[in-house]
Formats: sequence, C-alpha cells, structure tokens
Amino acid sequence: MKWFQSLRWRLFILFFIVSYLPLTIFSTVLLGRMETYFIKKSELEWLSKANGIAMQIKEANYLKENKNYNLFKSLIKSRSHEKDLNCRIVVVDNLGFVVADSSGTALNKTIMNQQVFSALSRQDKAEKAPDAHIMTAAVSVVDKDDKNKVLGAVILSANIDDIYSSLDTMKSQVYLLSLATSLFTGLLSFITSSFITKPLKTLMKFVQRITRGQLEQKVDVVGKDEIAELGNAFNHMAEQLQQVEQSRQEFVSNVSHELKTPLSSIKVLTESLIFQDNVPVEMYQEFFQDINSEVDRLNNIISDLLTLVRLDQREIPMNITSVDLNEMTQNILKRLIPLAKKKEIKLVYESHKDITAEIDEVKFTLALSNLIENAIKYTPSGGDVKVIIQSDLQDAFITIQDTGIGIAKQEQSKIFERFYRTDKTRNRETGGTGLGLAITYKTIVMHNGSIQVESEEGEGSTFIVQVPLRHTWEGVVR
Ligand SMILES: Nc1ncnc2c1ncn2[C@@H]1O[C@H](COP(=O)(O)OP(=O)(O)OP(=O)(O)O)[C@@H](O)[C@H]1O
Ligand SMILES: [Mg+2]
Repeated sequence: MKWFQSLRWRLFILFFIVSYLPLTIFSTVLLGRMETYFIKKSELEWLSKANGIAMQIKEANYLKENKNYNLFKSLIKSRSHEKDLNCRIVVVDNLGFVVADSSGTALNKTIMNQQVFSALSRQDKAEKAPDAHIMTAAVSVVDKDDKNKVLGAVILSANIDDIYSSLDTMKSQVYLLSLATSLFTGLLSFITSSFITKPLKTLMKFVQRITRGQLEQKVDVVGKDEIAELGNAFNHMAEQLQQVEQSRQEFVSNVSHELKTPLSSIKVLTESLIFQDNVPVEMYQEFFQDINSEVDRLNNIISDLLTLVRLDQREIPMNITSVDLNEMTQNILKRLIPLAKKKEIKLVYESHKDITAEIDEVKFTLALSNLIENAIKYTPSGGDVKVIIQSDLQDAFITIQDTGIGIAKQEQSKIFERFYRTDKTRNRETGGTGLGLAITYKTIVMHNGSIQVESEEGEGSTFIVQVPLRHTWEGVVR
C-alpha cells in the first residue's frame, strides 16, 4: 500500500471519485427519464394500433351482426402476425366474453379486468405490465350506427423487450463513458500534480542535504506562486542556518582566542621565573601580581560566558518583583562613583518622578551596570556621563549618555554580538572581553524590552533602554 501514500495517487483517487459520483447520479437520473419517455411513447403507439383494429371491427360490423365468425377470427389471427403489429389480439364483447383471441388460449372465456372494464366504459387505456416487459392496450369497439353504444373491446398485448434492450445498451454505454471520463480526470490530475510533487521532491532533497550539514545549499526558485514562496522561505532558512553556524564557529574561535591570551601571558611569566637563576624577590612579587591579574581576567571571561550560556538556555528563572527604578539606579551609581572619580568623570543622575517597574532586579542591575561602566570606560578623563530615567503609561526609558570616544556607524549594530569590540578599543588596555553588551542585550530582551544606540565618533554615545512597566510572560519560555 505504499503507493497510496504518495500525493499523486491520492489526488488521482480523489479526482476519480469526485467526478465519478456526480456523473453516475446524473446518468441514472437521465436514464430513468428516458425509460419513462419511451414507455409513454410506446403506450401512445399501441393505443393507436388498437384503435386501428377497433375501427376495422367496427366497420365490418362483426360484433353486431355475428356473421362470418370464422372469417373474423382468421382476420384477427392474421392481423396479429402482421409485421408492424406482431402482438396478441383479443376481442371481447360488451360482457367481457372472448370472441376472438389470436393465441387461442382465452377463447370462450370471460376477461373482466380493470383495463377491459375501462375500455368497455369508453376509457381507452394502454399500460405496461408492472413486472414484465409487456404492453397492453385496451380500446372500445362502438356500434357503427350508434357511436354511444359500446359493442365490445379489443385488447392488444405486445412484447416491448426491444425498448429495454436499447435502454440497456444505452445504460452500459453511458456508465462506461462516465467511468472513462472519471478515469481521464483522475489521470489528468495525476499528471498535472507533478507541478506540485516535483518541486516538493526537490525541496525534500534540499532539506536532506541541509540535514547532512551541507548548509551552502540553495534551491532554484521559478515564478511567484506559493511553491516559489516556499522555495524562497527555504532559501532564507538555509541562509539563517548558515549564519547561525558561522557565528557558532566564530564564537568558538573567539572563546579559544580570548582564553589563550591570558594563558600565554601566564606561561611567559612563569617560564621566565623558572628558567632564570637568582631571581630577586621583587621580580617574583611583580610577576605573580601579573599572573594573578591574568587569572582574574580568565575568571571574568569564564563567569561572563557562563552567565551568557545560562541566559541563552533560560536556565536562571526570572525573579520578577516591583522595583523602584530610581533607587536601583542610584545604588548602581554609588558603586561606580570610585571608578568615575579615578577618571575624573562627572556622573549626573536625572529623574523627575517615582517609577516602579516589574523586573528581575539582580539581572537588570547587571545589565544597567554594564552600560554605565562602558560609558565611564570609553570616556576620556574630564568627560560627563549622564543617566536619565523617564516613563510613559506603559514603559520606562533609561538613557545613558556619555561624551566619550563614540562608536562608528557601521559598528553600532555589531557591538551587541559576543566578543565584539570596536576598532578603537580592541587594542586598548581598558578594553574588556566584549561580552558585557551581549549579556545586557539578552537580559533586556528577556524583559520584553529593547535597546537602541545613537553615537557620533569622537563626540559620545547614547544608549536608550526601554522596558515595559508591567511584565508579561508572553513569548518567554521558562
Ligand atoms: N559607551 C561606549 N562608548 C564607546 N564605545 C563603546 C561604548 N560601549 C561599548 N562600546 C564598544 O562596544 C564594545 C563592546 O562592549 P562590551 O561592553 O560588550 O565589551 P567590553 O566593554 O569591551 O568588555 P566587557 O565584557 O568587559 O564589558 C566595546 O569594546 C567598545 O568597543
Ligand atoms: Mg563592557
């Protein structure tokens, strides 16, 4: 039954059934109507034939005068064998007594059925026998001289098999034609369905190759229909996968590189102590201090990385509470005052009203600290760093402004990537690992907020954080 699972065969069967059912119903109704029509026609035909014979009997006055009886009987017999009649002819008198019967079987008997009774009451009638292919027509024979006097009746019984045999031929032809038409429709849909199945097969092969890791795949998209749209969507997906894979590889090499730098300094420092004789104690102390700070750096990188990974996997649950944003920001600034003082940077804080937001205080403090630390770090001595808190009915806005070195336009979208540091800061002593903003960004997104940067090189930077006052769990998978 495997073939049945293919779309083409299913379409074939569907189209076959969909066209065959109405066609058969239509044919059956049509054939029924035709049968009624043929029977009606045959009734009229036999009535007129019976009338012809009744006329003849009337003209010859047989029933009235009772003369030439044998001649009358043989006339009836011969007429019944005539080519265009070929039927049984029975003649009865006005009491139903059989005067003549071409088959001879009912002679001298009395026939008085509904039809004969009607005919004797001048109601001529033809009808088909209910369970046989026989047509009977009964008409009255009237007196030649008195049209109102009924002398008897003529009954014709004819076999109408010919009507049924031609109806049967027609039936088989019509049903065969319906079947052929439906098969043809099914076949047509089978053939045309390749328009759908072929591209689907191509897409399937494409997906299989992607699954095997061949990400640089592209499908050829022809036209603009839904299939083409699907093709475009697949290409887009492949591009995205490629990007993800690329950034994953970059990430791994960045991590290795970042970890390698402090490790190689440690190695150089320790080796120079090991391979030197009579090293003075001061040198030991100095080198160990350097080694210690490299270890600190390694520690920082690793804990930042761990934070990022946990945020990525949403491993740390969000601990949402109502937080006074002014209080939280002031606490952060308090911690950073020594750093700003050291660089002679003026820290300005501006807020005009109480603002409470539903956030995870610990995570949000970390995100905001990163931004303010950056502002201090990348602003030369004597500069200003300003933090402004505002809100509207739905959101809180926290602006961090500095008068520092700024960020080039083409780098502004990249600074949120892991390990990204701008050209200006890459080789500087002050430069960190480039993980701070990645953590900040992730945290803000987890709060359903957003972050924007505006900056002019050499003039300073402004980061604007937007966060909803009420937290919704929508879109956050915990
Ligand atoms: N206020 C700013 N002014 C100028 N450049 C900035 C500012 N903030 C960030 N940058 C640039 O963006 C880069 C990325 O910032 P990020 O905070 O992620 O890393 P970092 O400060 O170098 O290291 P750390 O992981 O220790 O925070 C920085 O290296 C710097 O080049
Ligand atoms: Mg930073």
